[in-house]
Amino acid sequence: MTDTVHKVITILENIAKGDYSNDIMKYTTRGQDEDIRRIAEAVGMMMVRVEAREYNLQLMVGQLQKLNKTIKKNAIQTIRTIAKALGARDEYTEGHAERVANYSKRLACCMGLSKDQVHFIWVAGILHDIGKIGFSDKVFEDTGSRFSDEIFSEIRLHPVQTFEILKDLEFIGPALDYAVSHHEKLDGTGYPDGLKGEQIPMGARILAVADCFDAITTTRSYRAGRNMEEAFDILEQIKGNHLDPSLVAIFIKEIRENGMETIEN
Ligand SMILES: [Fe+2]
Repeated sequence: MTDTVHKVITILENIAKGDYSNDIMKYTTRGQDEDIRRIAEAVGMMMVRVEAREYNLQLMVGQLQKLNKTIKKNAIQTIRTIAKALGARDEYTEGHAERVANYSKRLACCMGLSKDQVHFIWVAGILHDIGKIGFSDKVFEDTGSRFSDEIFSEIRLHPVQTFEILKDLEFIGPALDYAVSHHEKLDGTGYPDGLKGEQIPMGARILAVADCFDAITTTRSYRAGRNMEEAFDILEQIKGNHLDPSLVAIFIKEIRENGMETIEN
């Protein structure tokens, strides 16, 4: 084997490994052995075609990423729009949903959960009470008086109604389970399924802490909201039976250090 053939083979082996250097081009010049020149030209042409395809592929990937971003943005807008529909019936619920979503997101971030997990927990926060949209007007009358048994059983149905409304929205992923289980309690006395401890999805346990905290600290027409420390006391009292104690501890630390102001989405 001549030295030139040996060098060309080495270059071809490097090209096969993805090293598209221009070394092959020097064998396309006049004066080279005719066979070597034809091989070098064919390989040079092949490299140009491969590079053009790679360039087009990169363009397509860029377009797909852009499209994916737009789809995600639209999905988030759709989620907010659904929540607004409930807000039109009950003003408190809309603000409550945004706050619960943000508290839940903060708690999820503190736990070091992945970006996707944090996103789905936020989504669940926004949508967790959407099942209330089917409530009768009586339930929305914010009088503060004790609910009758009839109204109370209607209220207890909202997680199941949430499931019925959202079950076909594939893009909300695990957020559906989190939303449906946000009234489950650690001791199994919650609803709708009476799940216990770790049977309750982590996202739902996070939501439960945020949901309770916001309900306690929000001023309603019939009572003033409690301050942060009073709310922490209540969370401490209901942890163990109702709320996950480790989540309560992380949540209290986060809110104490960074305040109740919500973070940007
Ligand atoms: Fe709820």
